[in-house]
Amino acid sequence: MQAWKWLDCVRLTLVLYFVKVSQQGAYQRKLYRDLLKNYNRLERPVLNESQPLTVDLGVTLIQIIDVDEKNQVLITNVWLHMHWKDCYLKWNVTEYGGIRTLHFPSDYVWVPDILLYNSADERFDATFHTNVLVNSTGHSQYLPPGILKSTCYIDVRWFPFDVQRCDLKFGSWTHDGWLVDLQMLEADISTYLPNGEWDLVGVPGKRNEIHYDCCEEPYPDVTYTVLIRRRTLYYGLNLLIPCLLISGLALLVFLLPADSGEKISLGITVLLSLTVFMLLVAEIMPATSDSVPLIARYFAATMFIVGLSVVVTVLVLQLHYHDPHGGKMPKWVRVVLLNWCAWFLRMKKPGDGRSSVPCRYNQQQQQSFSTMEMSGMPSQRSGNGNMIYFGYHTMENPCCPVSADSGVMCGRITCSPSKDSGCAQSTPMVGSSLEIVKILEELQFIAKRFRDQDEGEVLCSEWKFAAAVVDRLCLVAFTVFSIICTFAILMSAPNFIEAVSKDFA
Ligand SMILES: *[C@@H]1O[C@H](CO)[C@@H](O)[C@H](O)[C@H]1NC(C)=O
Ligand SMILES: *[C@@H]1O[C@H](CO)[C@@H](O)[C@H](O)[C@H]1NC(C)=O
Ligand SMILES: *[C@@H]1O[C@H](CO)[C@@H](O)[C@H](O)[C@H]1NC(C)=O
Repeated sequence: MQAWKWLDCVRLTLVLYFVKVSQQGAYQRKLYRDLLKNYNRLERPVLNESQPLTVDLGVTLIQIIDVDEKNQVLITNVWLHMHWKDCYLKWNVTEYGGIRTLHFPSDYVWVPDILLYNSADERFDATFHTNVLVNSTGHSQYLPPGILKSTCYIDVRWFPFDVQRCDLKFGSWTHDGWLVDLQMLEADISTYLPNGEWDLVGVPGKRNEIHYDCCEEPYPDVTYTVLIRRRTLYYGLNLLIPCLLISGLALLVFLLPADSGEKISLGITVLLSLTVFMLLVAEIMPATSDSVPLIARYFAATMFIVGLSVVVTVLVLQLHYHDPHGGKMPKWVRVVLLNWCAWFLRMKKPGDGRSSVPCRYNQQQQQSFSTMEMSGMPSQRSGNGNMIYFGYHTMENPCCPVSADSGVMCGRITCSPSKDSGCAQSTPMVGSSLEIVKILEELQFIAKRFRDQDEGEVLCSEWKFAAAVVDRLCLVAFTVFSIICTFAILMSAPNFIEAVSKDFA
């Protein structure tokens, strides 16, 4: 008995439930039928024909999908909101079983023909036509989502420190302001999904009214401006810092000694790597000549510096390997380079510290050389022969240290190995005086060769020193120039400080 009762109870509940649902279904069917019986979706839903219908328009920015600099297109994921009051879609909630809202497909009721004016989509209207939600007072709500492709003039002048302003202009395609009065709602960015490349600064909106010459009526539109700032970290790490390093390498060309023979190849390599980076930049940028991107200006300046450094290096090498017999250094070059510039750069001539200035023999010295004192030095005599020591005194020229290679020659005349032979000390001196004169002549020749060589070396080292001075001068000048260039170009971007402090911090 108890079980029966319980089952009955369940059955009754179920029946009641289905009756209620079918009641709701019936109400809905009735309501749809009643509402759409005399409804014409072509008719603008206003009671007074001469009154405009107010449509509120708003957007929710969900995501910035892409900013295509090359094609000047912004791709965004946006939900549109449209609200208006349809005076023909009203009902009494109590009469229709408590139905509060109805869903109409957008091609069953009147909807405003609001389109994105600056659309770049193939179908032009890229929104998905969802249902229109209508409540009992006739308030209609239409929220078509869409992936909007909009044209946007992307100004790359300050790339990669640029801020872009992309407009989304919405308006009724055919209705003027007297038929549909478009009003703006603030853009909603509370559900915005952050982008890795762009920071969203804001989406300010503005309602415009345009009057054309032809007609009296206004044409209202609502324009949202998507303000985005490029995040610089990627470009800083991948383009700017390598460029900075490369321009630093270009300065090393001036530090590399000319004798290494690698100066030119280093310069050319740096130039080539810079070209590769410039190609990367060119690929990103739109092929426009309206404005030169900041980064391209910076690369061009760096390239100019590197190219100039190669040219200067050629000149330096030309100085360094200057033929000493090709002529003496012009006086003004000597004064400007070897005196002024060297003083300015605090460079010392090689060997300025030690007194290795080659001896300049005067005529008297030459004489004294030819009538050189010959002396047999008994103290130098060795057991198995006689040492004959030829020397010249260099008292007149104290700058020449007496050393083994400063013109002192030793000759040894060997006699018979036996000690007790009659080989007197004076015999070779007298017997070979003619030979000695010959030897003297040879000596003079050799000395002259040495002197010439020394003089040539002096000239050579002078040219080399001149090359080193030019190198150092260029190092200083190019360092200053590239630092100024870097700061002047990068700092010229309007939001450089902001970008660096936000992205690199
Ligand atoms: C419609 O609106 C106009 C202008 O507001 C007014 O002059 C006219 O009387 C209205 N007509 C009706 C039927 O209410
Ligand atoms: C709705 O209908 C009920 C019952 O017919 C009636 O009492 C009520 O006044 C109506 N409400 C409006 C706003 O017309
Ligand atoms: C219908 O929607 C409008 C706008 O959302 C609202 O102001 C109004 O109160 C709603 N009416 C009812 C009966 O819910």
